[in-house]
Amino acid sequence: MEVRKVGVIGLGAMGAGIAQLCVEAGVDTLGREVTPELGEKARDRIGHFLTRKVEKGQLEQGARDEAVGLLSLTTELDDFADCDLVIEAIVEELEPKRELFAELDRTCRPEAVLATNTSALSVTEIAAATTRPERVVGMHFFNPAPLMPLVEIVRAELTADEPFETAFAFGERIGKTPIRCNDTPGFVVNRVLIPLLNDCIRVLDEARVTPEDLDLGMKNGAGWPMGPCTLVDLVGIDVHVHASEALYEKTREPRMAPPPRLVAMRNAGLLGRKSGRGFYRYDNV
Ligand SMILES: NC(=O)c1ccc[n+]([C@@H]2O[C@H](COP(=O)([O-])OP(=O)(O)OC[C@H]3O[C@@H](n4cnc5c(N)ncnc54)[C@H](O)[C@@H]3O)[C@@H](O)[C@H]2O)c1
Repeated sequence: MEVRKVGVIGLGAMGAGIAQLCVEAGVDTLGREVTPELGEKARDRIGHFLTRKVEKGQLEQGARDEAVGLLSLTTELDDFADCDLVIEAIVEELEPKRELFAELDRTCRPEAVLATNTSALSVTEIAAATTRPERVVGMHFFNPAPLMPLVEIVRAELTADEPFETAFAFGERIGKTPIRCNDTPGFVVNRVLIPLLNDCIRVLDEARVTPEDLDLGMKNGAGWPMGPCTLVDLVGIDVHVHASEALYEKTREPRMAPPPRLVAMRNAGLLGRKSGRGFYRYDNV
């Protein structure tokens, strides 16, 4: 199915990035926030990022203005009635997502594809809140969405082929590298990366290696582009602990559980780059 109009619900860190990708690809995009002020804030952020691209010579001024013009805002769900694809990026909690999908099911036309950007919830459980679970998929973008190439296209238990492939093709159209996978905890990348990073943090204490040396070790001995402590600082220690807890709850595998050292750091407000201190100190905050 050709996507002529896309809806993005929730214009926070992820939703605003996804909406930016859509308008940059020339797609008519409707964004929804809970208040008009939050919607305007997101539009300003998108405009600001696109202006920076113009300043860096990556985008023409005319193309920037055209892209910003493709984004319209609403607080009403009824306005999504003519969207071909709706991507949800609201808070990471099951009940609000299920309520939203039930509403979208009532509002959107029957052929519309409904996608969730959830990282750790079950796409199948979200789809089950609708009467059209065959048209519900996961589109899991990575943060920051405009810069990270990957999007995981997640097939829930009842997802049909056509909406699944529509989501995959749309991922390509907005310049991402999509991969296909099933709806299992952590999907592909987080299923591998979260326990791996947790192992790295445990090794800090077991081997009494410093964060600096662990990062040097993984960069120079395993070819990682960035050391694990630098990566966890970048992701946010709170975000990583939350994702670990969610995966542990689902799989009960001990390696998924957040290492106590990370939980203590989170509790102390050492959240990494965004708080100015994690494994390292940052003076840009
Ligand atoms: N941050 C990440 O690294 C990351 C990566 C991949 C996926 N995700 C997933 O993306 C989703 C959003 O995460 P985020 O980091 O952007 O969160 P965020 O808190 O930055 O943004 C969520 C936004 O949704 C809005 N919102 C809440 N309920 C709404 C509703 N009913 N309608 C419209 N807007 C609503 C909030 O006002 C907020 O602006 C979550 O499911 C999260 O798991 C996050």
